Amino acid sequence: MQKNILITGGSSGIGEGLARHFYDKGWGVLITGRNKERLSKLASEMPGLHVLEYDSLKEDQEQPLIQFIRQTWNGKLDVLVNNAGHVALTPIQAINRVELETMYKTHLIAPSLLASGCIEFLTASKGQIINVSSSVGIKPSSQLSAYGSAKAGMNMLTKIWALELALLGIRVNSIAPGPTDTPVLANAGLPPDVVQVIHDSERATIPLQRRGSVEDIVVNTALLIDSGSTWVTGVVLPVDGGISIT
Ligand SMILES: NC(=O)c1ccc[n+]([C@@H]2O[C@H](COP(=O)([O-])OP(=O)(O)OC[C@H]3O[C@@H](n4cnc5c(N)ncnc54)[C@H](OP(=O)(O)O)[C@@H]3O)[C@@H](O)[C@H]2O)c1
Repeated sequence: MQKNILITGGSSGIGEGLARHFYDKGWGVLITGRNKERLSKLASEMPGLHVLEYDSLKEDQEQPLIQFIRQTWNGKLDVLVNNAGHVALTPIQAINRVELETMYKTHLIAPSLLASGCIEFLTASKGQIINVSSSVGIKPSSQLSAYGSAKAGMNMLTKIWALELALLGIRVNSIAPGPTDTPVLANAGLPPDVVQVIHDSERATIPLQRRGSVEDIVVNTALLIDSGSTWVTGVVLPVDGGISIT
């Protein structure tokens, strides 16, 4: 029977890479994003790919996704990937309510509401939740207090949900990417020269001496999802060239 995966933030970067991987394997794939143009482009490149608009900052955004799973997939959902996210570099002196609410809504509140709505489906499939957090949720990084605390919180959500849901047969794990080549910094509004400076300084701190690729993250996420692994839950897996152990 076909397996189905819902990937939030599938319109770019890591989420897009995961969508392509599971699409190529013949899974049913539903991706979300806010950028209609990118969603349509991916839908035309991958016939049969399902796309829905979804904005973590707005209320009740999970409802159309839950309805889609019930109606189009007859309630069959195998994996939920909470991947949608964004970064903002802000020193504590400049932090403000809007940024804090944006970070916590995107990385904590929206994933919690979506996971909650998907439990009935994942119980039926003995499925999995993957939360895409960050090495910054493990290792403190300057100017990233809102983002880092949100991702650290996401890692704790992973462990608590894993405990709560084990008896239902649902596994929950986090992937914690290190600096990975995606449009995330450009999408945060940083100009190319600043992005280049950040990339260079990050590279210098990574023990394996290179930034990650989307493929690095996809390969390791797929290990958790589709390698026959069935006895791993509540884990936060750094995929970061070793940066979180420095
Ligand atoms: N790249 C890295 O170095 C890195 C490192 C550690 C962790 N991560 C994490 O990996 C995940 C994916 O990031 P990426 O690097 O692939 O970034 P990306 O290329 O910018 O993709 C981010 C995705 O999240 C979606 N998104 C962002 N804010 C959203 C919101 N408010 N509501 C709904 N969707 C939203 C975007 O959709 P639209 O643009 O269509 O709105 C896009 O599909 C994020 O959670 C990020 O924190 C990335």
